[in-house]
Amino acid sequence: MTTYTHSVSSDKYSTLHTTVLGMELRNPVIVASGTMTDTILQIRKAINAGAGAVVTKTIYYGRRSSATEKIHHLPTGTMNSTTYSWKQLEQWFVDLAAMQQASLPIIVSIHAENPALLGELAARIADICMYPLELGISCPNDVTYSTLTPNVVYAYTKAVKARVNVPISVKLTATDSILDLAHASLEAGAEALSLSDTLPAIALHQDQPLLLTGGVAGYSGPGIKPIVLNSIYRLREAGLQCPILGIGGVENAHDVLEYIHLGASAVQMHTALMHSGVELVGEIVAELSNWCLQNQTQVVNQIGRALTNG
Ligand SMILES: Cc1cc2nc3c(=O)[nH]c(=O)nc-3n(C[C@H](O)[C@H](O)[C@H](O)COP(=O)(O)O)c2cc1C
Repeated sequence: MTTYTHSVSSDKYSTLHTTVLGMELRNPVIVASGTMTDTILQIRKAINAGAGAVVTKTIYYGRRSSATEKIHHLPTGTMNSTTYSWKQLEQWFVDLAAMQQASLPIIVSIHAENPALLGELAARIADICMYPLELGISCPNDVTYSTLTPNVVYAYTKAVKARVNVPISVKLTATDSILDLAHASLEAGAEALSLSDTLPAIALHQDQPLLLTGGVAGYSGPGIKPIVLNSIYRLREAGLQCPILGIGGVENAHDVLEYIHLGASAVQMHTALMHSGVELVGEIVAELSNWCLQNQTQVVNQIGRALTNG
């Protein structure tokens, strides 16, 4: 298998080194796909702030609706109705080549109108760079979300595996059908799962009988963390051994450790960075390193510790 190796020179956070999707990372704190990862400038800023890697905003291939995109902050998290990157494909290809040239640690998030187009997009990206892919197929703000059955997940994953030879993570949503969706992803050849995308949710304006964001939106932030942890626990309890990238409500090193102790190999975070700025990543990485030093351990030795402790 072709893998992309990001060089991790010796650094002061050596207790945090880990491997994700074939990439050697200096730490397991990754900036998740979203409005903060749509441009090279944002991506470089996140890496300079200390992120172990960055997942690009989802690059989309095919027809799409042009609904207005809104973001609202609630006390327990954030509601957003954004979908995929609006940047032209050709511009993304130029940017990906530049990021590869600069050896930036990137996971490329992709989606398309149908499995055949997703396979084609993956192949075009693999001609440009050797980055691992995350299939961003679970966006609850996409009109096709309700049709995301295990068969559809299987078809998208298989179509990409048939065209490229890079590690793939399928991004899923923490819902009741998580076990079936996870099995479908792995049977189709995915190396890992990214869990979770935002959860479909509704909120109303405070003083008016009106739906915020105009209807169902994607809910993220601290309010979803226990739900995502439960989904990861269910996968581990069912015996799934694959690497999991834990995503949802990470705001500090304690949150990172919760995911890692429950069996995630790394975490991704987005909403907290929208509130506090991308510099928060560096603070979390330093906090995590201190914890490892105090407990005389390496972060990789902490993966799944809560499961082995019963
Ligand atoms: C404004 C916004 C835009 C997002 N855009 C994407 C996207 O393009 N692709 C994707 O896979 N996830 C997207 N997400 C979901 C995040 O990557 C992440 O899965 C989710 O927000 C949960 O993590 P958090 O609580 O740390 O934000 C977006 C989230 C937010 C808040």
